[in-house]
Amino acid sequence: MIQLKHVSKVFKGKKGDIHALKDVSLHVNKGEIFGVIGYSGAGKSTLIRCANLLERPSSGNILVNDIDLTKLSAGKLREARKKIGMIFQGFNLLKTATVYDNVAIPLKLSGLNKQEVKDRVDQYLSIVGLEDKRHSFPGELSGGQKQRVAIARALAHEPEVLLCDEATSALDPDTTEAILDLLLTINQEFGITILLITHEMNVIQRICDRVAVMENGEVIEQGPVSKIFSSPVEATTKKFIRSVFSHHIPDEILQNCQSSGQVVLLSFFGYSPEEPALALVSKKFNVYPNILSGSMIQLKQEPYGQLLVHLKGESLEVERAIRFLSEQGVKVEGESRDGIKNQRIS
Ligand SMILES: Nc1ncnc2c1ncn2[C@@H]1O[C@H](COP(=O)(O)OP(=O)(O)O)[C@@H](O)[C@H]1O
Ligand SMILES: [Mg+2]
Repeated sequence: MIQLKHVSKVFKGKKGDIHALKDVSLHVNKGEIFGVIGYSGAGKSTLIRCANLLERPSSGNILVNDIDLTKLSAGKLREARKKIGMIFQGFNLLKTATVYDNVAIPLKLSGLNKQEVKDRVDQYLSIVGLEDKRHSFPGELSGGQKQRVAIARALAHEPEVLLCDEATSALDPDTTEAILDLLLTINQEFGITILLITHEMNVIQRICDRVAVMENGEVIEQGPVSKIFSSPVEATTKKFIRSVFSHHIPDEILQNCQSSGQVVLLSFFGYSPEEPALALVSKKFNVYPNILSGSMIQLKQEPYGQLLVHLKGESLEVERAIRFLSEQGVKVEGESRDGIKNQRIS
């Protein structure tokens, strides 16, 4: 649906060239929600602006529905862009126009007649839940309501693709949840493909199918959200995951635990109360599990949990318990003498 092929972008800066994108390749499938996450300055906004050619790449190709946007004439590009909606962190509304006109004016400019414009505005203001605000001005709306207007404005052109540049970054947590729910509905009910960029892992966690992690203009890791959560490879990716699961245990406690057994990080998808693997450990082995920290989150597809556990016992028994847990489908990370796959827990 959206393909970025070896896209690079160089800006001429006062102090020399800025390589904002370096050989970025991505393929967003039709109907999916694809997230790009990275810290500030990673190149995310440049990437999403290249996806509809608001920014022209220095090299590489951008294909939307197999049409290479970089090869189109100005007129054809305008046509192609009608299928691509965009929303921004700062909403970009016309301050002196009502909610109704903010959605209606671009429709009029695109050539729809008065009745068509009215029907579309009514329909999409209703979808975003703002029928009663049609006569209000942006200054009279909350942040969440402004973003709803921007979403209605983008949807009113009936695009196939919606690009979202940090759409929830200016919003409080509750409003963020509501806007993410709305994006999910748009994706599921209208089949609109969504490419979004964010610096917040909870956005990826809640609504994305796949994710790419960006750093210094490069995509350093990409894959299904569940895989990136459970088996992150790059340091930056791990840092983003830790922003969701932070197991901060005081050093003193950690050392005490390690002197009388092992501290392991258990992770698992779903929840099956009929197979309480950890409870069985204390029955089957001479090992006492103590939970130091833990949490469970809802990924778009399935729940995912992590538990930091002190397995108290003699080392041989602890090794057997770890092997048992692995056999039960629980991923175990930590340090062990026989080298069960091992990342230090810090
Ligand atoms: N129009 C521009 N001119 C010069 N440099 C730019 C321009 N836009 C972005 N940059 C630079 O490109 C890099 C990536 O920026 P950006 O894509 O905005 O990152 P992000 O959205 O991840 O914060 C930064 O170093 C930024 O300063
Ligand atoms: Mg940005």
